[in-house]
Amino acid sequence: MLDKARGLPADQVFMDIEDAVAPLAKPEARVNIVAALNEGGYEGKVRTVRVNDWTTQWTYADVVAIMEGAGHNLDCIMLPKVQTADQVVALDLLMTQIEKSMGLPVGRIGIEAQIENAMGLINVDAIAAASPRVETIIFGPADFMASINMKSLVVGENPPGYDTGDAYHYILMRILMAARAYDLHAIDGPYLQIKDVDGYRRVAGRSAALGFDGKWVLHPGQVDAANEVYSPRQEDYDHAELILDSYEFFTSAAGGAKGAVMLGDEMIDEASRKMALVIAAKGRAAGMVRNEQFTPPQV
Ligand code: GLV
Ligand code: MG
Repeated sequence: MLDKARGLPADQVFMDIEDAVAPLAKPEARVNIVAALNEGGYEGKVRTVRVNDWTTQWTYADVVAIMEGAGHNLDCIMLPKVQTADQVVALDLLMTQIEKSMGLPVGRIGIEAQIENAMGLINVDAIAAASPRVETIIFGPADFMASINMKSLVVGENPPGYDTGDAYHYILMRILMAARAYDLHAIDGPYLQIKDVDGYRRVAGRSAALGFDGKWVLHPGQVDAANEVYSPRQEDYDHAELILDSYEFFTSAAGGAKGAVMLGDEMIDEASRKMALVIAAKGRAAGMVRNEQFTPPQV
């Protein structure tokens, strides 16, 4: 798996020492991860390691082993089951001390905070603001469902009996608001039915529609679906670029210095430009190419 991840078109790779690793195998997982990071081949991807959460006996040794062993080849530490801002501060302090003792640049390695229980969610604003290292807030649906006693075993799908709306809407929105307020990434968690790519698309589509930046993949078969769902549709990307070009032209002296103009049947103004910027930025980041160019009209 560590090797296969090198060749996949994913934006990030995260290596786990937490719930996908049995307690007896954790020391060996640390060693394997350090070796894989130092061997390299993950260039162009955010290189992240998920350590165990602070309620266990493993967190400090995970962080020390990974950062002392491969601190130069690591971009982020993922902290699961975060419940309070203090837990982020504790990780930040430990990371800073290791960076100083190892001669690593202080503050370069980021923190990804996974929200996986009710306490984490009610504290998510403070968690997002707890350290300048925090880059990402992640929804951990499996642990979260267990934490709130949700009556289902199928991660991310609406529980049987909930036949109205989306049972995850509040949680996703709560996380998204904290992420946007503090300018962080909002990332959706895993979909465990790895052979059901349509199911992946359906669940991913909900968080993507709200504004999430991406979702975990557990298997190579989910990567294309993720890249597609979190990228704009081609027609929306083209339209966003058209709005940006048109608005730039019409607000200029040559275009008449207008703040609100008609683009086809639609009125566009400064708020339209801001919306278009979001879609265009996502499309450009995904390497999309626009289909049509803007030709300034004769005014
Ligand atoms: C991921 O860690 C989850 O609990 O969903
Ligand atoms: Mg979890």
